[in-house]
Amino acid sequence: MPLINWEESLSVKVSEIDNQHKKLVGLINTLHDAMKERKANEALGGIIDELVNYALNHFQTEERYFDKFGYLKATAHKKEHKDFINRVAAFKDDFARNRIMLSMEIMEFLKGWLINHIKKVDMAYSDFFIENGLK
Ligand code: FEO
Repeated sequence: MPLINWEESLSVKVSEIDNQHKKLVGLINTLHDAMKERKANEALGGIIDELVNYALNHFQTEERYFDKFGYLKATAHKKEHKDFINRVAAFKDDFARNRIMLSMEIMEFLKGWLINHIKKVDMAYSDFFIENGLK
């Protein structure tokens, strides 16, 4: 069973963004599956790298639209993105140095952060993006 199930309540009604969120959900589920299958740290590290890189790419997509459309909540939203990347990058570094193991606690953090961020922070731009022509 996947750790996160995509559901309609996660949709911001902009297909490009929804597709990127689905990819992030998929990467977190892949990491969870790999952890449960006790895959080697090298394999887990590769998935973590992919997750960080994809999250950066996704955040840049949203932030480009914030700047293009003049989104008023951009500063606070960008800070959430930066804090998340800093946190995951620190975890990635600790993991790469064998200081910590991938755990259910970390998986629950990733799941909780993504769902909470999409539902509360991303959802706030949904109408604004649509008004500016995204669909
Ligand atoms: Fe979809 Fe603000 O990240």
